[in-house]
Amino acid sequence: MATAAQEPIPLFDLRLTDDDLRAVEDVLRSGTLQMGAHAEAFERAFAAHLGSAHVVALSSCTAALHLAFVATGVGPGDEVIVPSYTFAATAAAVLYCGATPVFADVIGPHDPSIDPAHVAALITPRTRAVACVHFGGYAAPVHELRALCDRNGVALVEDAAHAPAATAGGAMLGTVGQAGCFSLFSNKVLSVGEGGLLCTDDARIAEQARRLRSRAGYRFDDMRAALGLSRLRGLHDDIAQRRRLTRRYREQLQAVDGLTLPYPDEAVDASSCYVMPIMLTDPGRRDAVRAALRSRHGVQTSLLYPAVHEFTAYLQRFGRIELPRTEHCSRAEITLPLFPHMTTAQQDRVVAALACELGAP
Ligand SMILES: Cc1ncc(COP(=O)(O)O)c(C=O)c1O
Repeated sequence: MATAAQEPIPLFDLRLTDDDLRAVEDVLRSGTLQMGAHAEAFERAFAAHLGSAHVVALSSCTAALHLAFVATGVGPGDEVIVPSYTFAATAAAVLYCGATPVFADVIGPHDPSIDPAHVAALITPRTRAVACVHFGGYAAPVHELRALCDRNGVALVEDAAHAPAATAGGAMLGTVGQAGCFSLFSNKVLSVGEGGLLCTDDARIAEQARRLRSRAGYRFDDMRAALGLSRLRGLHDDIAQRRRLTRRYREQLQAVDGLTLPYPDEAVDASSCYVMPIMLTDPGRRDAVRAALRSRHGVQTSLLYPAVHEFTAYLQRFGRIELPRTEHCSRAEITLPLFPHMTTAQQDRVVAALACELGAP
């Protein structure tokens, strides 16, 4: 039971440093707030961090996905294969192009990444691109997908919203496809409030994204760029903390019945560890477990994600399709609190609360 001495444990908590605050204050005092020298410096710094030729700063990751699809040639009449187990933006960006999202299933609760075998089965002459999501900062099978896309002459766009410093086989996530899209939203690993980054090695994609950025109203600004530049310096330390906490969660959660952990332990060191997902063995218990975590133990949780193909807007437009593994994951998943300065005492409380609620009949 949460007591007065037990402060609620938030899902996420953002702590800015004095350097972060000073960086923003300097821009505010300069009187030049719009996208300018700081945005260019932030783009260059993130490009160097990724080892990518071009980075374009935008108003959101949704904008980055939209422009990535436009710049890779997606238009009306085209199909884009996307996961349904994702945030709405991955599929919505396809609709913004006048194209049709075609939903592929995930591999399973042990790896909720888009399934390359299902992607291969869904490719048609109308397929123009494939999007993968690096769920929670863990790599989708991006090299396999790139090879599949190359064989079929379609583009691969990586939704790397969660994964600003994660790798697959030594490659930075976001750099394996023709374009990679990152989110700078407030709860993300590299957050500035609102913002997105599109990275690419293709000069034509970068040029088109820069041109459309102004026309589509997807501009960034120098205050957020200054904050991004400052926070980028702490990114590796933040991720080291996230990985340490994730390893500790995984060790402790092994002893708790009624749940499985997605991804193998070895994947943690290559992940940006954006969130700590667990999959309940019995999805029917999820609502009650979450409610008890909140009311009895003061532990905030979230759900990543309701399946997009089950949204009313998609059901009405595209009809009912079955993606059994996506549907299972979307009903079984609970996201636990995780942030770089989370204490081990807070973590112990989350684990004890879960053990208490899952152990209860
Ligand atoms: C997988 C994924 N893609 C895209 C987005 C969209 O990011 P933004 O809010 O920066 O537009 C999010 C945001 O939560 C996300 O989780």
